[in-house]
Amino acid sequence: MTGNLFDIKVGYISFKNPIALASMAGTTDSAFASKFTNAGLVVLGGYNLDKETNEAARKETRRGRKEFVTDAPMELIKSELEKAKEIGTAVAINVRAATLAPFLEAAGIAKEAGAILEINAHCRQPEMAELGVGEALMKDLPRLGEYISEIKKTGVVVSVKVRANVVDDLGLAKAIEEAGADIIHIDAMHPQGVDIGVIKRIRNSTRLFIIGNNSIVDFDSAKEMFSRGADMVSVARAVLEEPRIIDFLVDEVSSVQAMTGWYNAPKHICGGGDLRALAFCCPPVKPCAVHGALKQVGFEPQEFVNIKLGFSRGTPIESGGGTCFGSMAWCCKITKPCFLRDSVLERTKLSDVEYMQVKKKLSEHILKHRKK
Ligand SMILES: Cc1cc2nc3c(=O)[nH]c(=O)nc-3n(C[C@H](O)[C@H](O)[C@H](O)COP(=O)(O)O)c2cc1C
Ligand code: SF4
Ligand code: SF4
Repeated sequence: MTGNLFDIKVGYISFKNPIALASMAGTTDSAFASKFTNAGLVVLGGYNLDKETNEAARKETRRGRKEFVTDAPMELIKSELEKAKEIGTAVAINVRAATLAPFLEAAGIAKEAGAILEINAHCRQPEMAELGVGEALMKDLPRLGEYISEIKKTGVVVSVKVRANVVDDLGLAKAIEEAGADIIHIDAMHPQGVDIGVIKRIRNSTRLFIIGNNSIVDFDSAKEMFSRGADMVSVARAVLEEPRIIDFLVDEVSSVQAMTGWYNAPKHICGGGDLRALAFCCPPVKPCAVHGALKQVGFEPQEFVNIKLGFSRGTPIESGGGTCFGSMAWCCKITKPCFLRDSVLERTKLSDVEYMQVKKKLSEHILKHRKK
């Protein structure tokens, strides 16, 4: 069902769908990941790239934590990436190191294998933190930025795995983007549960490809992240309980994509959606949440009207006699039932997918012209 349904690309990587297996040290090696051939991405690791991190990992195993420990880290990741080619999907390798040099060597290996290098800035094990590894990188943005920009020079596709609510999330995401990373893989952890808002805040402030993570246990939880701007979602612990969860999620998101053409379409702005949802907004004539959104992008109400109508001219959503505002430029998301819009769609022979694809382009157009 997933065939060419999705068109999701980052650099030299093409994802067959937006569902990923996230890394769990000591568990997610190529053998484990080979059970998830339907996933759009499998993240192997976390692997330790030098003596220091392998020694720290060895200490962790003594207190019962699972880790991949090796005396030959580069050989290990090379052979793991070679074996992972059999899985038939995009592969990333999540790695930790105490200095830049091992990251650079691993980046070369990952690029050669056509894989993503994922910098682990997420790990909070004290043995790693003491080395300035994992979470310590989030707390040292100049060093994280230097690592990213040097690693990017190898040409590898770079993901950075981080955890929310440890440092200033927006400052972190912007630093990651400015340094040149391609992907932010964000564990939306919050002391009280999942911080879904962090996905929206990062979507609204960067152009990074976002992999949303934490407590995805069913399609409803995945949808919460997609509709706030995640390009992909990843699952870790839930696969240990229910290995078929990846297949379920792939089936569900594929159905949404087949029916609507925009699997991660935002909720309406007034429903908590991100700024992409300006594509579904009404003309800004009454007091509502659109005005706050317009302030965020720096548009006067009339400018917004001009941008929407200007884009829509000559497109299939220009028409809309009988709808609330006379043009489908102002119409709601296809999943909001509306017989007025649907009768125009029927009359103009525009499918739901075509309608949403034009709305997606409209949202890209609006945000391309944002002033802030
Ligand atoms: C046992 C275990 C090991 C983990 N190891 C890593 C790791 O090596 N690198 C990493 O970036 N995240 C690691 N994580 C974090 C997960 O990838 C994921 O971000 C986190 O578990 C939240 O997602 P979930 O709710 O789907 O489990 C680990 C998580 C668990 C439970
Ligand atoms: S303009 Fe319409 S869709 Fe947008 S926030 Fe206001 S009421 Fe909601
Ligand atoms: S016609 Fe329907 S879809 Fe269009 S703006 Fe009105 S309620 Fe929304």
